[in-house]
Amino acid sequence: MKENVKNCIRYIRSITDFVPKIGLILGSGLGDYGEKIQVEAEIPYADIPGFPVSTAPGHRGRFLMGYVEDVPVICMQGRLHYYEGYSMEQVLMPVRVMRGLGADILFLTNAAGGIRPSFYPGDLVVIYDHISLFGVNPLIGPNDDEDGVRFPDMTKVYDRKLCEIIAKAGLKHDIYIQSGVYMQLTGPSFETPAEIRLCRTLGADLVGMSTVPEAIAGRHLGMRVCAISLVTNLAAGISPAPLSSEEVNEMGRQAAPLFTSVVTTAISMMKDI
Ligand code: HPA
Repeated sequence: MKENVKNCIRYIRSITDFVPKIGLILGSGLGDYGEKIQVEAEIPYADIPGFPVSTAPGHRGRFLMGYVEDVPVICMQGRLHYYEGYSMEQVLMPVRVMRGLGADILFLTNAAGGIRPSFYPGDLVVIYDHISLFGVNPLIGPNDDEDGVRFPDMTKVYDRKLCEIIAKAGLKHDIYIQSGVYMQLTGPSFETPAEIRLCRTLGADLVGMSTVPEAIAGRHLGMRVCAISLVTNLAAGISPAPLSSEEVNEMGRQAAPLFTSVVTTAISMMKDI
């Protein structure tokens, strides 16, 4: 594993010996989930030597380590995005740190634009596959064989059992969670209506600016990966309304109680798998 990742792990280990099972990464406007965690340790990114600091609106910058319903979790409150100017290596650092601390499940969340006509703002959607042909592959560069193989298989990036658990967790809260294909673009500009028509033609149900780099890194590291999107808006051109990050964050706030319940139930159901 690369030296800077090892340094981060060493620093965190100097503070806590907590071993997480699940690495949870929170998306735009969803950062309040941290309140659900019975916190054992709180580590601001700024305190970790060599760790990048998040600048996106709606994002805090810290790791929370603690228990969600008895399940040990490390939660990234404030994700790093490629559009902020970080290198892919920096974007992947948190996943590598989570893995190095012991997490074997990676639970990703995000805010996304809805492309499929059956998706509405406020819907939760399980990601069962992704398209990232327009982004930069995050594993470009020398391969660290300690991490994983040079050409990792991506047939099932999103673990079927974990997808099922998320769907069942939704049913426990009386909501039907649909599933979809997530298209990752780099951002930071939102898409044009023509780009969204292209995404739809290529098979995308959702669009967003995150998640896929971490999911690829998680698979590369041999983690079991799952992801859930909160549809915060209809994608460009599907509704005539202009898009804004305020709208994305506001929907995050509105959907927070439901999102919190579903994620918490899903995590509790992942305890023994
Ligand atoms: N496009 C890209 N990213 C997003 C969107 C969108 O419409 N909504 C939330 N994140």
